[in-house]
Amino acid sequence: MCTSLKISPPLSSLPPILPAPTPLPPVLAPSHCTASLLPSVSQERCRVCKAGQMGEITNVTEYQAIAKQKLPKMIYDYYASGAEDEWTLKENREAFSRILFRPRILIDVSRIDMTTTVLGFKISMPIMIAPSAMQKMAHPEGEYATARAASAAGTIMTLSSWATSSVEEVASTGPGIRFFQLYVYKDRKVVEQLVRRAERAGFKAIALTVDTPRLGRREADIKNRFVLPPYLTLKNFEGLELGTMDKSNDSGLASYVAGQIDRTLSWKDVKWLQSITSLPILVKGVITAEDARLAVHSGAAGIIVSNHGARQLDYVPATISALEEVVTAAAGRIPVYLDGGVRRGTDVFKALALGAAGVFIGRPVVFALAAEGEAGVRNVLRMMRDEFELTMALSGCTSLADITRSHIYTESDRFARPFPRL
Ligand code: FNR
Repeated sequence: MCTSLKISPPLSSLPPILPAPTPLPPVLAPSHCTASLLPSVSQERCRVCKAGQMGEITNVTEYQAIAKQKLPKMIYDYYASGAEDEWTLKENREAFSRILFRPRILIDVSRIDMTTTVLGFKISMPIMIAPSAMQKMAHPEGEYATARAASAAGTIMTLSSWATSSVEEVASTGPGIRFFQLYVYKDRKVVEQLVRRAERAGFKAIALTVDTPRLGRREADIKNRFVLPPYLTLKNFEGLELGTMDKSNDSGLASYVAGQIDRTLSWKDVKWLQSITSLPILVKGVITAEDARLAVHSGAAGIIVSNHGARQLDYVPATISALEEVVTAAAGRIPVYLDGGVRRGTDVFKALALGAAGVFIGRPVVFALAAEGEAGVRNVLRMMRDEFELTMALSGCTSLADITRSHIYTESDRFARPFPRL
């Protein structure tokens, strides 16, 4: 794949006896070089060809293959898998690919402003980090690395309830705007304590996950008898006897959820949550207009259109397909965000064109963590940002406000206006 360029001087110009080659100083592999991460390829090859066997990482999806190589199967499968047939998992990506652009031309795009505000907090771009559990299985620095990378990129990290680092530990990594994702336990005292701790640790909002009264059937986890490795704990629950997971004849996480998570959770609990915290609440897991209207009435500060990365109910639509009906139902009263299958700057643009106020990314973060820790997560955020900026430029948009519904074609536009054949 990589060819090293050899420039030979004319023979006559060579000294008669070449001096013994001085050993080259050790050179660290470029931080985004996949060669350095593969045991079969030496650093030397990386230095010579500047990349290596798989080449330089040029998009976020490439981290998945590296993570697969590096991680034990049980852990990789936990991160990668979706529920049952994984139809929605595939569809979360494919639905993006069915949306096409209607770019505008001859617009001065020499300056592009990607900044935005989320719940009043200014961030550098409308791309944030979704909560994904147990990040220390991917890398020893886990959530610390993610928090630092998000902060360096000027964006928001959402910390999972089931993180392997506590809210206090993540706060101690330094400044940054952070949200806390909440799972509601049967024991409401536990929930209250946790919300207090998140508030004290400076978290700015609660993302209340509402799509998990039971865990979706992730067959890879069942086959692998997935369990949190014994050297790790769900740090937020350490000391409450809820920080570990027992091995079971099923997915250990599914059994944990069945034992601890409150299946009775309903809209009245959004009110209850508001009664115990003044933090704004984002309802994470809405995919219908009906629920969007209920979320508005419940006093939620925002909605995250999410199907949990296709890990809960299979055969729900891709989030990008559900987005427009939710946006229409929310009617501008609260902001609507989206996660699920966002892997390209073009995906971010499409989501914004359909009315999202921003997006969150999940798996690319854990895969990049597995590959290169904090540097990987920084690189994911950088690549997403660069691609999004380029998409804006090539579509003729200089600020997020310029991105409109008429910059894209969706399948539903087929009847409204001529649709190019796919
Ligand atoms: C998740 N997700 C998730 N959601 C949540 O509310 N709490 C959690 O603890 C987790 N944990 C988690 C672990 C892993 C490994 C994945 C892949 C996902 C769902 C997550 O927040 C988000 O909704 C999806 O990951 C978005 O889809 P993509 O970007 O992964 O396709």
